[in-house]
Amino acid sequence: MATGESGASLSEIKLGPGEGIAGWVAKTGKPALVNDVDSDDRHAVKVDISSGYTTQSLVAVPMVYEDSVIGVLEAVNKRYGEFEQSDLTALSAFAGLASVAIANARKFERLTSQNQQLKEQAFGKWELIGKSHAIAKLRDLIQRVAPTPTTVLITGESGTGKEVVAHQIHQLSPRENGPFVKVSCAALPETLLESELFGHERGAFTGANDRRIGRFEAAAGGTILLDEIGEITHSVQTKLLRILQEKEFERLGSGKTMTTDARLIAATNRDLKKSVESGEFREDLYYRLNVLPINVPPLREHPDDIPLLIEYFLSELSEQFPHKIRAVEDDVMDVLMSYSWPGNVRELFNLIERCAVISRSERITMELIPPEIKGTTTSGEMSGAGLDLTLPQAEEMLIRRALKLTGGNVSKTSRKLDISRDRLRYRLKKYNINPKEYR
Ligand SMILES: Nc1ncnc2c1ncn2[C@@H]1O[C@H](COP(=O)(O)OP(=O)(O)OP(=O)(O)O)[C@@H](O)[C@H]1O
Ligand SMILES: [Mg+2]
Repeated sequence: MATGESGASLSEIKLGPGEGIAGWVAKTGKPALVNDVDSDDRHAVKVDISSGYTTQSLVAVPMVYEDSVIGVLEAVNKRYGEFEQSDLTALSAFAGLASVAIANARKFERLTSQNQQLKEQAFGKWELIGKSHAIAKLRDLIQRVAPTPTTVLITGESGTGKEVVAHQIHQLSPRENGPFVKVSCAALPETLLESELFGHERGAFTGANDRRIGRFEAAAGGTILLDEIGEITHSVQTKLLRILQEKEFERLGSGKTMTTDARLIAATNRDLKKSVESGEFREDLYYRLNVLPINVPPLREHPDDIPLLIEYFLSELSEQFPHKIRAVEDDVMDVLMSYSWPGNVRELFNLIERCAVISRSERITMELIPPEIKGTTTSGEMSGAGLDLTLPQAEEMLIRRALKLTGGNVSKTSRKLDISRDRLRYRLKKYNINPKEYR
């Protein structure tokens, strides 16, 4: 993280592992004190070039937590004079405190997300609910890919139902009686992720006290879901590519080549194409994964499914909560259907669960709805278009809403929106909207 005047431009710069003086510190775990940066071969000139800033002197110390380097703290260009040993000592002391704070924050984040995952698994029926055109299309695609052994890449915003789709593919495939194994690629650091995926022999790395089979082996005859695939490092990417091409891998610390017949499904909420462009993701792996892309639409693109989703969640939740909520008041439903749901179906589920916990009546009433959901709907027609939407998203939403009101009639819609038919047609094309879907 960079602060100070050039902070914003610096935070855009990415250095590979071991690159630059900070990279050297991260790799070796040793501190560095350099007062003539220009003549130090470890210095990465690209930092200065892209920030338009000249580094003259710096001190950098590793941030260490439980024996591993989790970051580097660096101070550049002392205002007067040069950096001294005492600066290094002070920075090290600060780094020690900051490491603990950061490690704790990361742990907390991990636990929160694990908690959500456990909740979803416990709930886990993994049914795909929805009758909208968008979900019907999705279901159709699932039915076509499920019987094949092809690798599938599921993309879509967070909480849209990517994991639901992966389970559906497994359940409708000839492997339905085999195992379904999920690995969250973002949850583990590199070595642990590799040993999780491929297994390890005893003594393969510090802490590997016994032999362990990997998730690819565990998924034999079934399906393996690699969740958050956009987060994996180059080393894991290379091993995955080999699995996709040759079906081969080795356990960590073993020379014996193993083969796998698990069907691979990958999921991500990142734009992998962009990660390829920035060099973070191997292009060849991207093309291998992207044979059959499935995009799961955000909830704001199929709001007509909201009543059905709520009904489903309520019936599932009624097993846990004794006082049954049976209905949602009409004005509440209006609000929910015009909200933009940045957290998608997961956000809707969490809201309904909260209502089920705190409601004393059999109905979901307006006072149970938090202000950020109600707040965006105060201006009548523009309801839903809070600042969590971009201008194009708001435009698309308005067009869809107008089409819904006119039953897909283009002339009426253009009049309602007060634009020419040609302009409306242009926009329909731009947003890939088919007015027939609204008839
Ligand atoms: N169409 C749907 N029908 C029923 N439940 C759904 C649907 N879509 C999502 N859900 C529910 O919403 C929650 C989030 O879904 P899921 O975990 O599949 O999202 P995701 O796209 O994998 O999110 P993330 O990117 O954060 O991993 C789950 O509880 C899931 O059961
Ligand atoms: Mg998921």
